[in-house]
Amino acid sequence: MTVLEEEMILPNGSTLKNRIAKSAMSENLSNKNNEPTPLLIEVYKKWAQSGAGLLITGNIMIDSKAIGEPRNVVVENRKNFEILKEWAESVNGTDTHLWAQINHPGRQAMEPINRDLKAPSAVPLKSGGRKDGSKKIPIALNESQILAIIEAFGNTAIILKDAGFSGVQIHGAHGYLVSQFLSPYSNIRSDKWGGSLVNRARFVIEVYRKIRARVGKSFPIGIKLNSADFQKGGFSEEESMEVVKILSKEGIDLIEISGGTYEAPAMMGKRKKSTIKREVYFMDYIEKASKITTTPLMLTGGFRTTSIMKDAIASNQLDIIGIARPFTVYPNIGNEIFNNSRINFNTKIKKTGVKGIDGAMNIIWYESQIKRLGKGKVPKPDLNPWLVFIKYSWLILEKKINKKRKSSQHY
Ligand SMILES: Cc1cc2nc3c(=O)[nH]c(=O)nc-3n(C[C@H](O)[C@H](O)[C@H](O)COP(=O)(O)O)c2cc1C
Repeated sequence: MTVLEEEMILPNGSTLKNRIAKSAMSENLSNKNNEPTPLLIEVYKKWAQSGAGLLITGNIMIDSKAIGEPRNVVVENRKNFEILKEWAESVNGTDTHLWAQINHPGRQAMEPINRDLKAPSAVPLKSGGRKDGSKKIPIALNESQILAIIEAFGNTAIILKDAGFSGVQIHGAHGYLVSQFLSPYSNIRSDKWGGSLVNRARFVIEVYRKIRARVGKSFPIGIKLNSADFQKGGFSEEESMEVVKILSKEGIDLIEISGGTYEAPAMMGKRKKSTIKREVYFMDYIEKASKITTTPLMLTGGFRTTSIMKDAIASNQLDIIGIARPFTVYPNIGNEIFNNSRINFNTKIKKTGVKGIDGAMNIIWYESQIKRLGKGKVPKPDLNPWLVFIKYSWLILEKKINKKRKSSQHY
């Protein structure tokens, strides 16, 4: 019977010291120029002491012209190499792996902070799909732009490897560019990048191969993949299983399962069933996926109770427990799980009563807690959501003004 304390050897030979991983959370803690900051590094120093075997960073953008949130880190060249090195060193002395999640948001980027939104096809998001509520129609990428993005994924990965991160994870979930290519809802292309699943999966395969070619065989590459989009006409569970098979055959080291997009945010939601399935969102999927692959599987979404985590690992249907939001309020979560000093890691946000704002809190309230950790403060479980909202709105406005200022300097 596998236990949470047991180490895990990945296909490339790397060892994770236990089965608890911090899943990616956009920290929104870069400076105005989307460079990593000392505040961000402090957060990782804190999480390095959490007891988790693997920390995955929030999504790092591969292109400064396509940014998900105003204060996301962008890595597209070696300009910030020294501070990236410091970030990678935040886990030194702990045997904890620090992987960088790399992402291109495609159409799911904020309109005020991006000049154009590029996507597989000119299919706009439905309302609620973007954190700023806009519905701008994206521009369909042409062949050379697609190839340039694949190249950029490889470029970002090698910079991060050289800086000292111990692995990379492709963000292939939650409705961002990789998952836009996979989904027949957002990808209606009729060339070799769209249509059949083989064609829709071409982008993620080429991204994986490009990264592998740049980082070599012994460096871990993972992916976060949707179990499904949970949208009518979207990427289905059956298709997702096919992609698991394809990527396993390609030699990927870890597949993290999540689900949903910002139009249908299943990754944040609740799915009620019995025992483990009452707490964990995508357990049904994992049961099936574990039968079709031998690649290590990580499952993220809903884990809150130590006993459920133990049962899930003991079931041998998954290899790593992925946890996100509880890391912001219980930064010592790994140790507390292992020494049984806390058995439940629930988080609860006060409601404002305004639907749009309460929806956004699922991200930005937790980002505020991350910022507190970076400042050396303790988490604040009763943090006022209105205060969080006002501060976040200011960040978007500031980025917009900054962008206007920069573009006016060009002319
Ligand atoms: C503040 C915040 C930021 C997030 N940013 C990312 C991200 O950058 N990349 C990603 O793959 N998932 C991101 N997620 C989703 C989480 O990784 C995770 O899938 C989700 O929160 C469900 O897991 P949980 O129930 O343990 O929180 C984010 C979640 C939160 C709360």
